[in-house]
Amino acid sequence: MSKKNNRTYEGDSDIKVENPDMIICRCEEITLKEIIQAVSDGATTINQVKRRTRAGMGLCQGRSCGRLVRKLLAERTGKKVSEILPGTVRPPVRPMPLDIMASLEEE
Ligand code: FES
Repeated sequence: MSKKNNRTYEGDSDIKVENPDMIICRCEEITLKEIIQAVSDGATTINQVKRRTRAGMGLCQGRSCGRLVRKLLAERTGKKVSEILPGTVRPPVRPMPLDIMASLEEE
């Protein structure tokens, strides 16, 4: 698959975030400067940034902000984006109505 046809943002695009007050995690209202501070304080993984800032702990569970946080981590730690492992997720991976979950049979 060519990179141009890949609709998944892998963090190496030309997106630039320069305003320190720019919201990176909309769910938890975490700004760029808070992410940068977390990395400056020693965070080197998505989960460490999550624990320090709550970025990725919101309703979308990092689906909106995860890629930006990953890109920022790569930039700030001098690693490739592919070297930054995705954060942990908790089931359900996608929001689902409770009636569907209630209708599931127990094992
Ligand atoms: S935008 Fe960060 S958890 Fe939703």
